[in-house]
Amino acid sequence: MELGCRVAVGLMALAALCVAQPVKFKDCRSTAGKIIIVDITPCPLLPCVLHKGQSYAVNVTFASKTSSQKTVAAVYGLVNGILIPFNIPNADGCKSGIQCPIRSNQNYHYLNYLPVKEEYPSIKLVVQWELKDDLDRYLFCWKIPVQITN
Ligand SMILES: *[C@@H]1O[C@H](CO)[C@@H](O)[C@H](O)[C@H]1NC(C)=O
Repeated sequence: MELGCRVAVGLMALAALCVAQPVKFKDCRSTAGKIIIVDITPCPLLPCVLHKGQSYAVNVTFASKTSSQKTVAAVYGLVNGILIPFNIPNADGCKSGIQCPIRSNQNYHYLNYLPVKEEYPSIKLVVQWELKDDLDRYLFCWKIPVQITN
C-alpha cells in the first residue's frame, strides 16, 4: 500500500514533466472563435525559451463561432512594434489537425510546429499567431513573449 503510493506519486511527478503545459496568452481580437488552450511544448514558463535549431510543438484548442471553408495561418514576431513574418511549415489550417470545412460551435485542435532557425537573432520578442477564416476574421489570434537563444 505504502509502496504503491510512493510509486504513484513518483509517476505523477514524472508525468507532470512530460505533459504539455498551457501557456498564458494575450488574445488579439479573436472575433470568429474563442481560444480555450494554447499549448507550446516545451515551454514550462514564460517567456518561452526558444533554442535555435529546435522546433516547438503548438497545439491550440479553440471553439469556432463561425463556419468557414478554409483557414489560413500566419505567424509574426513583434519587434519594436513592427510585425515580422515567421515561416511556418504549413500555412493551411485545414492541413494542421483541423478537419475542414470549419463548423460553427465546434471545438478544434490546431497542430503545428514553430521551427527556430539558426540565423534568428538572440532577442526577446512577442510571437503572434493567427488563424483566419474565409472572411479574414480571426478564428484565433494570440500573443506570447519568447526569448530566442542559442
Ligand atoms: C491538443 O490539446 C488538447 C487539449 O489539451 C488535447 O486533448 C490533445 O490531445 C492535444 N493534441 C495533441 C496532438 O497533442
